[in-house]
Amino acid sequence: MSYNLLKGKRGIIFGALNQQSIAWKVAEKAHEEGATFVLSNAPIALRMGELNALAEKTGSQIIGADATSIEDLNNLVEKSMEILGGKIDFVLHSIGMSVNVRKGKHYTNSNYDFTKKGWDISAVSFHKVMNVLYNKNAMNEWGSIVALTYMAAQRVFPDYNDMADNKAYLESIARSFGYFFGRDHKVRVNTISQSPTPTTAGSGVKGFDGFIAYAEKMSPLGNATASDCADYTISMFSDLTKKVTLQNLFHDGGFSNMGVSESVMEKFE
Ligand SMILES: NC(=O)c1ccc[n+]([C@@H]2O[C@H](COP(=O)([O-])OP(=O)(O)OC[C@H]3O[C@@H](n4cnc5c(N)ncnc54)[C@H](O)[C@@H]3O)[C@@H](O)[C@H]2O)c1
Repeated sequence: MSYNLLKGKRGIIFGALNQQSIAWKVAEKAHEEGATFVLSNAPIALRMGELNALAEKTGSQIIGADATSIEDLNNLVEKSMEILGGKIDFVLHSIGMSVNVRKGKHYTNSNYDFTKKGWDISAVSFHKVMNVLYNKNAMNEWGSIVALTYMAAQRVFPDYNDMADNKAYLESIARSFGYFFGRDHKVRVNTISQSPTPTTAGSGVKGFDGFIAYAEKMSPLGNATASDCADYTISMFSDLTKKVTLQNLFHDGGFSNMGVSESVMEKFE
């Protein structure tokens, strides 16, 4: 069902790789809710060509940008305003990658070149995206910027590796930059802390299948799916959440406030 929540709004959506991607679902729902937007991903991800189907379905253009490159981001933001015909109302940062995880380096034996690269892609890129939007005065008043994060920023999940540190940094950037964006441009900045979700990035974490099953049993409402996350993100882009900013918003079926659930206890009795 659609409510025209984003009618007339213009956006930039980073990070749709394939149909499993959370950003893919957000793009589909933003389109249903009446938004127009540009899709962006790293040039290497665009080579696979899967994004073309989403662009066609949503009537969007694709602009490649490595989110760690200020030059690419300048080009993306300028071109997006040209294509969409004005300033931007919403931005989704749905980007994450740990080279240590990819190369199987244990957290206690990190390769620090990998650490730096993963940090730049997964966390600092959010600062860079906002830097470009802020300095170009590219956001409309009451616009909304959202990045996706995970609860390993607050609690220990051993196999999440250095992504836990990257997410903590990402959430801090949302608060720090969000202050200036709110004060100077009335733009809100938040992170959504999502349940484990079977996507390319999610499934790359060791032990993911066991972990997602555990989270499902711990959460009174069960895990939030990518589609649920898209619904929540749309509400954060809409005018119904204008005064929500500097927040890390848990979207996890209740997992983050649980100690233990009866169905988990049963396994030990
Ligand atoms: N899947 C989960 O369990 C889960 C849970 C909580 C939060 N998240 C977060 O959600 C976000 C989206 O991930 P997803 O699960 O949809 O997986 P995904 O693999 O579909 O998306 C990750 C995206 O990051 C992009 N990316 C990587 N390097 C980039 C770069 N240099 N420049 C631009 N883009 C780049 C990839 O191309 C890909 O599109 C990530 O921030 C992830 O950490 C995922």
